[in-house]
Amino acid sequence: MDKKIIYSGIQPTGLVTLGNYIGALSNWLKLQNDENYQCIYSIADLHSLTVRQVPSEFRNRAISFFAQYLACGLDPQKNIMYFQSHVHEHAELTWILNCFTYVGEASRMTQFKDKSQKHPDNINMGLMDYPVLMAADILLYNTSLVPIGVDQKQHLEIARDLAMRFNNTYSPTFNVPEPLISGVGAKIKSLQNPIAKMSKSDPNENATISILDSTDDIMRKFKRAVTDSDNEIRYGEDKPGISNLITIYASCKGIAIDAAVKELQGLSYAALKEMVGCSVVDMLAPVKARYDELIKDKEGLFKIAKEGQEQASSIARKTLRKVYKKVGLVQL
Ligand code: TRP
Repeated sequence: MDKKIIYSGIQPTGLVTLGNYIGALSNWLKLQNDENYQCIYSIADLHSLTVRQVPSEFRNRAISFFAQYLACGLDPQKNIMYFQSHVHEHAELTWILNCFTYVGEASRMTQFKDKSQKHPDNINMGLMDYPVLMAADILLYNTSLVPIGVDQKQHLEIARDLAMRFNNTYSPTFNVPEPLISGVGAKIKSLQNPIAKMSKSDPNENATISILDSTDDIMRKFKRAVTDSDNEIRYGEDKPGISNLITIYASCKGIAIDAAVKELQGLSYAALKEMVGCSVVDMLAPVKARYDELIKDKEGLFKIAKEGQEQASSIARKTLRKVYKKVGLVQL
């Protein structure tokens, strides 16, 4: 039986957060050992160019992201890991799909409207084309499943629409991808506003833990975490701050929420924050140690990226060739 393809892209902007680690990466670590799936992960660097980047910072951050995902335990022998810009088929398929995308549907996308509002001085074509590039990412690899959060649902929808539109116009060409909404992998919230998710680009640095934060930073951020005014350690919707801390603790320790509550009950809020902070420090210590090794060895990283590029290209090339043929481009 053919393995099902799972595809995800990661924009190299902001930080890789504790939320990414607990929410997404922990699932990906399980998936890489599951015989039924082949996972493909790209650093979606072309997507990030839709907002202005400082070239040297951008380059370093892209490399750092790649190293951080490896440091978290994603194994390049088991997953295909590469930079989007290293596989030129992404841009080429985007052009073809552009010719099947209506200006109306692209301009109605929520994220396009939000980002246009946020960057009114730079509403460029790339911003509007963002979902089409994402569709190309997904469709190039015969993807069956795309792990996504709610913010990306509309993007996956357009990828599905484009796949079906193309298939109906010609003949079955693309797999129509489904969202992979995982029940496992806890949703980690902002430490400053526990109603909102922990965001990789939150301007308030106390809200977010980077997986590379120092022990001092982690402990300080937990000390300042927003809780509530009673002093009961209980998990519940009416206690978002405390519930978030309990969730983080349970995830770091690999135990159930109930078990975490039992361990933590009776502590003062200050002691709770200290316990949770320590559990995070312990969990991230080996990740940080691996990262320090990886980032020192650029040549080693580039070798892994090159192998990823080759694996990705060989799949993407075939898909694009099929597409070019179907639309009637001359093939020599
Ligand atoms: N748009 C996604 C995000 O910001 C990143 C992304 C790019 C992606 N290409 C993708 C996600 C393909 C899934 C599949 O999170």
